[in-house]
Amino acid sequence: MSRLFEPLTLGSLRLANRIVIAPMCQYSARDGEAGDWHLIHLGHLALSGAGLMILEATAVSPEGRISPQDLGLYSDADEAALARVLKAVRAHSPMPVSIQLSHAGRKASSRPPWDGGAQIRPDEPDGWKTEAPSPVPHSPEEDPPLELDRAGLERVRGRFVRATERAARLGLDGIEIHGAHGYLLHQFLSPIANKRTDEYGGSLENRMRFPLEVYDAVRAAFPAEKPVWMRISATDWVPGGWDIEGTVALSKALKARGCAAIHVTTGGVSPEQAIKLGPGYQVPYARRVKAEVGLPTVAVGLITEPEQAEAIIADGEADAVSLARAMLYDPRWPWHAAAKLGARVSAPKQYWRSQPREYKDLFEAVSFGQR
Ligand SMILES: Cc1cc2nc3c(=O)[nH]c(=O)nc-3n(C[C@H](O)[C@H](O)[C@H](O)COP(=O)(O)O)c2cc1C
Repeated sequence: MSRLFEPLTLGSLRLANRIVIAPMCQYSARDGEAGDWHLIHLGHLALSGAGLMILEATAVSPEGRISPQDLGLYSDADEAALARVLKAVRAHSPMPVSIQLSHAGRKASSRPPWDGGAQIRPDEPDGWKTEAPSPVPHSPEEDPPLELDRAGLERVRGRFVRATERAARLGLDGIEIHGAHGYLLHQFLSPIANKRTDEYGGSLENRMRFPLEVYDAVRAAFPAEKPVWMRISATDWVPGGWDIEGTVALSKALKARGCAAIHVTTGGVSPEQAIKLGPGYQVPYARRVKAEVGLPTVAVGLITEPEQAEAIIADGEADAVSLARAMLYDPRWPWHAAAKLGARVSAPKQYWRSQPREYKDLFEAVSFGQR
């Protein structure tokens, strides 16, 4: 029996298996609104048989977008556009859909990767002044962000709450708060980006304060039975930066507040990061969080092979795996994994006839006949 294909429960949400589609920015929205690209992209990923889909980093305010083309959930038009996409996805897929809510902080106002990914300075067309814990730019040559004052913090928290209310109205099945990859909440956690001297900077407790306040506010605004969790970078890969000890402390604080899981990634806060890349390179961090905190953990990063994913679950290193690039490259990855591991997977009835002869029992609930 495959462990990867065993169900997993997050709060009251049941995942049919432990394969998660990682959040992936598409830089293809207009004024935050999802369009036909999202319908096609999410539509075909929703047919993949994965246990859960996490929608891309979705900005809670216009200035919280990484790029001007980011998906957003800050206006009635954004909500209506996403409702259209979700309606189509749900009509054809039983897969639960969650959303990653995000604010990019000092990494906002950037060009999409295919246009180079550089900062768009506030005086350039489409650019804006960014905001962050401290007026320290991501790279020394960049335009520095404005330091968020008390009113600014309250405003950002309020934006997370409004977006959460919209996510609840859209019937989304869970919320992942983006606390990773050098975006706003990670900027509060990391001493590299957070130079504050008030109660939001300095000690570990102070640096965790704003991310925990945002968690509390989101949790309170989302239906109690549905899960809320956080994605955390477990290390900055820079000496003196945010690290695994802080990650464990934050995860314990989140657990005490009812957080459903931790999605363990790394890096993103500094261009000086020295990442040690390799297959499953972030899995040891997920293992530490799972062992020391006891919350369900999702491991991510260069998990590409079914046997590798199976071993991560079977060895108790994480409770689920999430895949990004491998899912784009092969959107039927969960079908192929199920075939290799002798498991079963849900597929749309329109595709049942594609079941290979050698995998007679691959698709669940198959029946067909013809005259
Ligand atoms: C196209 C693309 C877009 C991404 N966008 C996001 C995002 O919106 N939010 C996020 O937390 N990570 C994002 N990531 C990072 C992935 O979620 C994942 O952590 C990373 O790619 C490592 O996993 P992989 O080796 O399976 O690709 C993105 C990655 C890719 C390739």
